[in-house]
Amino acid sequence: MVLLSSPSTFVAKFQHHHRSLLHNSFLPAPSYSLSRPRFSITKTIPSPFGLQLRTAAALSPIHCSSNMVKAIRIYEHGGPEALKWEDVEIGEPKEGEIKVKNKAIGLNFIDVYFRKGFYKAPTMPFTPGMEAVGAVTAVGPGLTGIVVGDLVAYAGNPMGAYAEEQILPAERVVPVPHSIDPVVAASILLKGMTAEFLVRRCFKVEPGHTVLVHAAAGGVGSLLCQWASALGATVIGTVSTKEKAAQAKDDGCHHALLYEEDFVSRVNEITSGKGVEVVYDSVGKDTFEGSLACLKVRGYLVSFGQSSGAPDPLPLSALAAKSLFLTRPSMMQYTATRDELLRSASEVFTNAGVGVLRVRVNHTYPLSQAAQAHSDLENRRTSGSVVLIPDGC
Ligand SMILES: NC(=O)c1ccc[n+]([C@@H]2O[C@H](COP(=O)([O-])OP(=O)(O)OC[C@H]3O[C@@H](n4cnc5c(N)ncnc54)[C@H](OP(=O)(O)O)[C@@H]3O)[C@@H](O)[C@H]2O)c1
Repeated sequence: MVLLSSPSTFVAKFQHHHRSLLHNSFLPAPSYSLSRPRFSITKTIPSPFGLQLRTAAALSPIHCSSNMVKAIRIYEHGGPEALKWEDVEIGEPKEGEIKVKNKAIGLNFIDVYFRKGFYKAPTMPFTPGMEAVGAVTAVGPGLTGIVVGDLVAYAGNPMGAYAEEQILPAERVVPVPHSIDPVVAASILLKGMTAEFLVRRCFKVEPGHTVLVHAAAGGVGSLLCQWASALGATVIGTVSTKEKAAQAKDDGCHHALLYEEDFVSRVNEITSGKGVEVVYDSVGKDTFEGSLACLKVRGYLVSFGQSSGAPDPLPLSALAAKSLFLTRPSMMQYTATRDELLRSASEVFTNAGVGVLRVRVNHTYPLSQAAQAHSDLENRRTSGSVVLIPDGC
């Protein structure tokens, strides 16, 4: 039997994380209920293990669950045209799994890396996508703590979110607070958990720090600027256009620089030659060298992405002149355990719920138009978060 947790402990654990995190957090206590209100018990069925499992099926809207669903598939690495809109068979959940009918799917730059083959998918063909929010439509045998009708979100592995419905390991989903709209949740979970681990755990941002954030108006960048600013740091951001600069300023960026300005000289001026404590660099090739130059002595270069391409190799000796720290973190390793996942997700939803994080869902596309969304993202035509909505939702 796979026991995720009892319904009450599943919810209690989530609430506990909210409470315990507040101790060290800059946030006021959340003012909303952290779990989706459970349906009143509509039907109890005896489980094979002597437990009473609850089902909300009688009250919930009927979820038409079929084994054939529409999904995006990739057969060959390439441009956005590699994304094919097809019928696929998804099967039924096995032990430890649930089936989820997606309401909103987060688009992330990592989806572009997999489409191009920069990262290798475990199978070919494959369905991309690593973030979605949806309603549970079926629960695998023996699993308790999640019922049909629950609204859940996931971010990270397994890949396959670009689908109307998908099978997920129950231990990788988190409940979505009642107060958060599914589209908002899908726009913020992966990017928000990334911002969380970057400013709270990878390098701990504190009042008085000066931080440099590249792609400050992007999905992660927007949240990163807001979070670092709320923690009391002076935030310097880089962006490509005046419109993006205005958005970054609105997100708490004290100095929004255009790339054409030579960001190294500008950071030097702003910090009176001292440099910044940390650079959060997701752009990679085009900015990496400049990022190193912007750091103060014993500063941290957090290289967490490569939207412009992989940075050139760096000799270890390049770090010696200023005793620098260099790390290449991934959200997957910072949300690897169930405890880390729940803590990180709860910080994100709490911050969004109380308005500390302004959620920018600047673009939505029908799921079938994912190719257009990819094209816009990789050609720098987007800002904030991009969400794909399953056709017909
Ligand atoms: N390590 C992790 O765990 C983790 C998790 C999530 C995301 N990430 C990384 O964080 C970055 C941001 O992800 P996101 O999904 O929020 O995307 P995003 O920031 O919304 O989009 C990428 C942005 O990068 C900037 N950029 C600079 N040079 C570029 C180029 N040559 N081509 C395309 N874009 C370029 C663009 O902003 P401007 O127009 O302002 O230059 C563009 O809007 C990505 O590198 C992603 O891989 C890493």
